[in-house]
Parts: sequence; C-alpha cells; structure tokens
Amino acid sequence: MTTAGIDKLTFYVPHHYIDMTMLARQRDVDPAKYLDGIGQEKMSVPAVDEDIVSMGASAGHQLLQNEDKSSIDMVLLATESGIDQSKAAAIYIHELLGLPATCLTVEMKQACSSGTAALLLALDHVRARPDKKVMVVATDIARYGLSTPGEPTQGAGAVAMLISANPRTLEISPEYVTYTEDVMDFWRPNDREEAIVDGQYSIKVYIRALTECWKRYSETTGCTVKSFDRFCYHMPFTHMARKAHTHLNKRLKTDCEPQEIEEQIAASLKYNRIIGNTYTGSLYIALASLLDNEHPAAGTKIGMFSYGSGCMAALFSGTVANECSSITKTLGHHTMLNEREPISYGEYVDLYGRRSIASSSDIVWPHQTTAPFRWAGIQHAGRIYEQNTADQKTGTLRQTGVPHAGTPC
Ligand code: HMG
Repeated sequence: MTTAGIDKLTFYVPHHYIDMTMLARQRDVDPAKYLDGIGQEKMSVPAVDEDIVSMGASAGHQLLQNEDKSSIDMVLLATESGIDQSKAAAIYIHELLGLPATCLTVEMKQACSSGTAALLLALDHVRARPDKKVMVVATDIARYGLSTPGEPTQGAGAVAMLISANPRTLEISPEYVTYTEDVMDFWRPNDREEAIVDGQYSIKVYIRALTECWKRYSETTGCTVKSFDRFCYHMPFTHMARKAHTHLNKRLKTDCEPQEIEEQIAASLKYNRIIGNTYTGSLYIALASLLDNEHPAAGTKIGMFSYGSGCMAALFSGTVANECSSITKTLGHHTMLNEREPISYGEYVDLYGRRSIASSSDIVWPHQTTAPFRWAGIQHAGRIYEQNTADQKTGTLRQTGVPHAGTPC
C-alpha cells in the first residue's frame, strides 16, 4: 500500500541565544520560574539580517541537499510573522532555492497551527499524485513585549519538510481530527510587531482543544493513549507539553505512572527547551528532537497535537519509517545547536529594537548571520534576500526581492 508522510525534516535556528537565567536576573525574577516553571533554558534570538524568509530558505537549503528538486510541484509556507500583506514569503524561498517554475507556491496563516494545515494539505496532494513532492516550510519569530509575562516564551526558527509518498522518516496516518473555536487568546493586529496575549486563558483554551480533539479522535479511530509509544505537542514553552500530557492521562484515567508519562514526551522537549517558541515550526522541532535524541525504532507510533491560537487544533499520528534513523543522522542539528553562541542582555535589547522597522525606509543590514541565506535590507519598500556564501566574492550571488525598475505607486 502507498503511504504518505514526512520524507525528510530539517530545521534552522539562529546562531545566537539568550540565557534564561541571565534574562530572569535582569527581570528580577527567580530563575527557577523560567528554567522549571516555564521550562526554558535558552531562547533563540535572530540576527539583524535574519527574518522568516532567510530562516525558511536556510532550513530548505539543508532539506534539499542531495534531493531531486524537479519532483517538487508545491511549496507551502506557514507563518504568523508575515512580511507582506500580499506577496507570499514562499515565493522568495522558491527563488532562493531554485525550485521549478511549475510549482503551486503559497503562504498560509492560522497562528501556530498553519504548519499542520500545510502538512495535511500536502499529504492529500501526494496521496493523489504519488510521483510528486511538496516542500512545507514553517517559519516564525515569536515576539512579545519586553518585560511582559510572554517575554520568556519568545524564540525563532524555521522547519522545512519534504512530504512524499512512501516517506523515509514518518508515515502519517490518514485519520486526523480538527477543532475550531473563535477565541481571543492570542492575536496580532496588522499594525503591531508584538502579539497581544491573554496568557492564562490561552493555556486553558489549549487544554480544552486537546480534550475535544482526543474525544473525537478516540471515537473515530478507537485509539487510546496506550495506542501510542511517544507524543509530540505544540510547544509554546516546554512546561506546556508536560501540563497537556499530564492532563490527558488524568482525564482519560490511564494507569500510566508519572515516570511513564514523562518518558512518553521527554525526548521531544529537548530542542524546544533550548530554542523557545517557533510558533508554526514548534511541533515539528519537537518531532525532530524526538527522532534525533531517542532514535526510535521503525514502527514506533507517535501521537501529534497541534494548537494554533484563535483557535484551530489538530490531532493526528505517525509511524516511524524504516530509513528514519539513517536519514536523521545526516542532518547536523546537534552541531548547529552546539555551535550557537550566547549574547549579552544589551545585545538582546538592541536586536529586539532593530526589528521594529518601517518597510518604507531603505535599509542595508550589516552582515551578521552566517546562515546560508540572509535578509540584506529594504529597497523601495521591497525586502532583498541573498545567498550568504563565498559566491558573493565571485559575483554569482543569488538574490531576490529587488524591485523592478520604474516607479511603483
Ligand atoms: P506567568 O503568568 O508570568 O507565569 O506567565 P505563571 O505565574 O503562570 O508561572 C508559570 C509557571 O511557573 C507556573 O507553573 C508557576 O507555578 C511556575 P504551573 O503552575 O503552570 O505548573 N513558577 C515557578 N516555578 C519554579 N520556581 C519559581 C516559580 N514561580 C512560578 N520560583 C505565561 C506564563 C505562559 C502565561 C506567559 O509566559 C505567556 O503569556 N506566554 C505567551 C502565551 C503562551 O505561551 N500561551 C500558551 C498556550 S497558547 C499557544 O500555545 C499558542 C501560541 O504558541 C501562539 C500561536 O498559536 O500562534 C502562544
């Protein structure tokens, strides 16, 4: 039988992070609140010349190493940190990665759950056309006000996934359930750089959506918590996954001991704990964390819960494929994470301030990131992106976003 799922999954996170103990001290908060209560140790901070396009292209660059790009006929980009009200960020990435002009290329939005919506649509596409592949990119910068309760739950990063028939990493079961409810737990109006959030309420709605999804999932599939070996959750902060999974076991009256409950999620928490919230990518970084850190055997069943404020949630499941461990070993996620460097509190505040920029002013960003792609600046209200390689010296720079000569009005 033809299966469909994640053929390959890579992610990119910025080179710099802020240490959460240091941030807690700056905020006059007991560091134990951030480290244990919220469950975050480090928080990714994007360089001045990084945004959702450069991060998404950098994740995609790694994904497409040694892959046949000609079979990709769809690029779906999920984000809630959009850079344009009209043009899809996916188009810039499509150009930077040299993908076929025949692609359907579009951007999707529904808070953190649009990465999952893109995945579910991509799966249907490859089930109908098993010779084609879809690239899904989930890329975000999670940003709240300085000194607000949301501040320690920021982060940044991008996930890129190749979705195909007969996948090498994770086969995804066609059964899934979704849950939609109109709530104002978290949103970001067009003229704001930071999200507005009712934090405690958002946690309640997350748990409600999880409960509703499980109710329908178990009715339609007959599955119970015991049907799965491991679980991955959307992770705005790692303690949220723990809260959610403990709630689930309690509500469904499983006989799992606390240690077993912890084992079911522990490996999925590792990366998010040192990256922070990546919004649309967060669930898939949790999956990468599980795959890279535990190397689950082929056949391992994983329950996946996606939540996006506003709200839309989804529950689905996957089974680890035969080639998963040989693929994940080649991806270099550990090296990327281990080579990161901390920044000072002053540098963090400076980078935070520089991100609030009007699109109408021309900007040339200094070279800061060493990622494969960078956001070079703004010219005539258009964002310019370029490849960050030695190619620059030889004049073969791949660049996109340069406005057409003439006078746009
Ligand atoms: P807060 O209100 O300052 O924190 O902000 P708190 O008082 O609730 O404390 C947090 C935890 O730390 C608690 O644990 C405390 O007990 C504990 P809990 O009781 O919940 O188990 N604590 C300590 N532990 C050890 N030592 C100490 C100590 N002090 C306290 N000394 C909040 C927390 C999450 C509300 C805030 O950071 C926030 O608003 N974050 C943003 C919103 C968010 O992440 N919501 C999550 C659900 S919604 C979601 O996931 C969607 C989202 O990703 C967006 C999207 O979909 O697009 C956000």
